[in-house]
Amino acid sequence: MNGEHKPTFIDLFSGCGGLSLGFLQAGYRCLLAVDQDPNSVHCYNLNLKGDSDRGAVQEDLSRLSSTDDVRAFLSRHGVEPASCDVLIGGPPCQSFSVVGRNKIRALMESGGDLKVYWRKKNRERTMLFEVYALFLEVLAPRWFLFENVPTIRSHETFEAIINRFENLHDDDGRPMKYRLIHNNYLASKYGVPQDRRRFVLVGYREDLGIEGWEPPKEKPTVTVSAALDDLPEVPHGHREREMRYSSSPATAYQRLMRAGKPRELRGRLFDHICRWHNPDDVALFARMKPGARFADPDVQKAIREINPRHKLIKYSTDKFKDKLHKLDPERPAWTVTAHLQKDCYKFIHYSQPRTITVREAARLQSFPDWFRFEGLSMVASFGLIGNAVPPLMAQAFAESFAEADAGLFVHERERLASRKVYSSTAW
Ligand SMILES: C[S@@+](CC[C@H](N)C(=O)[O-])C[C@H]1O[C@@H](n2cnc3c(N)ncnc32)[C@H](O)[C@@H]1O
Repeated sequence: MNGEHKPTFIDLFSGCGGLSLGFLQAGYRCLLAVDQDPNSVHCYNLNLKGDSDRGAVQEDLSRLSSTDDVRAFLSRHGVEPASCDVLIGGPPCQSFSVVGRNKIRALMESGGDLKVYWRKKNRERTMLFEVYALFLEVLAPRWFLFENVPTIRSHETFEAIINRFENLHDDDGRPMKYRLIHNNYLASKYGVPQDRRRFVLVGYREDLGIEGWEPPKEKPTVTVSAALDDLPEVPHGHREREMRYSSSPATAYQRLMRAGKPRELRGRLFDHICRWHNPDDVALFARMKPGARFADPDVQKAIREINPRHKLIKYSTDKFKDKLHKLDPERPAWTVTAHLQKDCYKFIHYSQPRTITVREAARLQSFPDWFRFEGLSMVASFGLIGNAVPPLMAQAFAESFAEADAGLFVHERERLASRKVYSSTAW
C-alpha cells in the first residue's frame, strides 16, 4: 500500500497514539487524531505527525452533539468526510471501569444521592460514545474499531451502546448497515509482552463488498525478559533522559523495538528513567523472587524483618494482594495501567532492585524505542503509556482489515472519490 491509495483513518480520543501507531505501522494514513489532553496531543505530534498527516488536535469532543456539529468540526480541520476509510478509538476507559471506592465514600459522606450520581455518570458515558456514533453517521467509513476496557460488557449501558451502533442512520434517515463483531482480545496473542485484555468492537460495511472478517492470527508469546533484557542496568532514581545502549539486541522483539530509528538517533536510548525508592523498599525488592507478590508469606516476613514499622504494613493482604508485584521474566507482564502515575509497585524489575523505567513500560506496551516522551514529566509519561492500546495489537487489527479489503480497496476508493458522500449507496 503506498501513495494515494493508502487507506485512511481518524482516531477519536487518541491519547498519545498507541492505536494510531498500529494503523500507521500497517500502512494506513492518519487524516486526523483528536484528544482534549494537551500532554497527549504533544506526545502524539512529537512522534507521529508526518508530512502527509495532520496529526492530533486538542479539542473537547463532548461539545459535539449533532451530525451538523461533527460536519462543521471536520470542515474546520480540513477533512472531507468521504475520505475516511476507518474510524478508530474509544471513549476513555475510566468511564466504564468500576467507580473508585474513594469517590463513592466521598459522595456518601457529602450526603449525595447515589442514584443521581449514577444517572449523571451514565449520561457522561453515553455522551462520549454518542459522539463516536455521530462521527460514524457522518463519515460512513468502510470499517470502524471501537475499543474499551473488557468490563464495558458487563456495564449497564452496554446494551444501549450496541443498540446505538446497530441503529445508525444517514442524513436521509436511512439505516446504515454495519456488520458488528465484538469480543475481548488478549494483547499477548499479538506479540505484545503483556496479558492485557481489551474489548474491541469491529464494524464493517457489507454493502461495499467486504465479505467477512476474521480476528487477527495469533503470534508467539513474548516474555518480559525477551522484551527488556537488552536495556542497560540503571539504579532507582535514575533521571538521565538520554543514554546509550550497552549491548546488542538479542531477541526478535528487542530488534523490533530498536528498528525504525532515524539515523541521528541510532545507538541512543531515551526515557530510561525511574522513580526513587526509600532504602526499605530497595531492600525488599532485592529479597523478592520473580513473580512474588505483596500477600506472599515470604514477602510479608521480609517486610517485617527489614523494618517492623515498614510503611507497607498498614495494607491488608486480603485487599492488596498485589500491592507489590515483581515481574516474572519468563512470562508476559500483567496489564500495564495508568496507575503507574501513582506508584510502580506492581512493576518491580525482575533482576534489578527498582521499579520499571518509562522505557521499560513503553516496551511492555510495544511502543518502539524511537517513540519518545520528551517534554513530559515521568508521571505524565507513565499515564499516557498506561492508557494506550498496545501498538502491535492495533497493528494486527489494522492488517486484518486490510486483508479483508484486499482487492476491493483500490476499486472502492476510486468509486468513493467520484462521489461526494456515501449516501447514494443503495442499502
Ligand atoms: C484510554 S485513552 C486513549 C488511548 C489511545 N486510544 C491510545 O491508544 O493511546 C482516552 C483518551 O480520551 C481522552 N478524552 C477524554 N475525554 C475527552 C473528550 N471529551 N474529548 C476529547 N478527548 C477526550 C483522554 O484525554 C484520553 O487521552
